[in-house]
Amino acid sequence: MSAEAELYYIHQPTAERPVAHPVTFLSVQAFLTDEPACRALWDFIASQFRTRQKFLTIWPAVRFVAMIQDPQTALIKGMLLVSAPMNWQIDYVVVHPQARRQGIAAALVKRTLNEAYRRSVPYVMLTSRESLRPLYEGECGFSVVGRKDPVSESRPLFDKPLRLAKDQLHPGGVPLSTSHSQ
Ligand SMILES: CC(C)(COP(=O)(O)OP(=O)(O)OC[C@H]1O[C@@H](n2cnc3c(N)ncnc32)[C@H](O)[C@@H]1OP(=O)(O)O)[C@@H](O)C(=O)NCCC(=O)NCCS
Repeated sequence: MSAEAELYYIHQPTAERPVAHPVTFLSVQAFLTDEPACRALWDFIASQFRTRQKFLTIWPAVRFVAMIQDPQTALIKGMLLVSAPMNWQIDYVVVHPQARRQGIAAALVKRTLNEAYRRSVPYVMLTSRESLRPLYEGECGFSVVGRKDPVSESRPLFDKPLRLAKDQLHPGGVPLSTSHSQ
């Protein structure tokens, strides 16, 4: 679990914004026909996030996938998932470790915001750790509307067994320092 606060963000699309990389924006049905892309998504979930629990929970609600692929090497550089009952929820923004700090995440999010604008989606929401505020607030125009502070380390031990049990259940999981607790 991250020791950082989680921030809740909202964005109200009012105009299209420039996107620095070509983004493929697919319905989940179209995405599921692309076997290498499905494999890449699962590899990202397994290697870049601490648990599979939230992913398996939200997957039935996912309606769109945004992705950036290198046209030369076919490497999938980054992805995000959109759940869309009416307002949109962005989850699992993830970028290949070799493609970071090139604007890939920002392009995925901005393209998604443009799609939301074109489809008259009222709000787009996401939750993320505090250190990514420059990405979501500064770069992509989200506003912070709430926060959840991390559980204090001084809380009694009986508040923590679930966390320990999860770690024990996933002995092959990614080390905490390299994965996000989504
Ligand atoms: C977080 C993540 C998606 C960022 O992807 P990225 O493509 O490297 O991000 P971008 O290049 O679009 O970043 C744009 C700006 O956002 C900010 N930013 C990006 N990553 C950041 C980080 N790790 N810490 C602080 N700010 C960051 C910076 O201001 C950056 O601009 P700069 O590179 O000119 O300084 C990527 O590191 C990742 O996949 N991490 C593992 C999964 C994860 O934690 N996902 C977040 C789920 S909410």
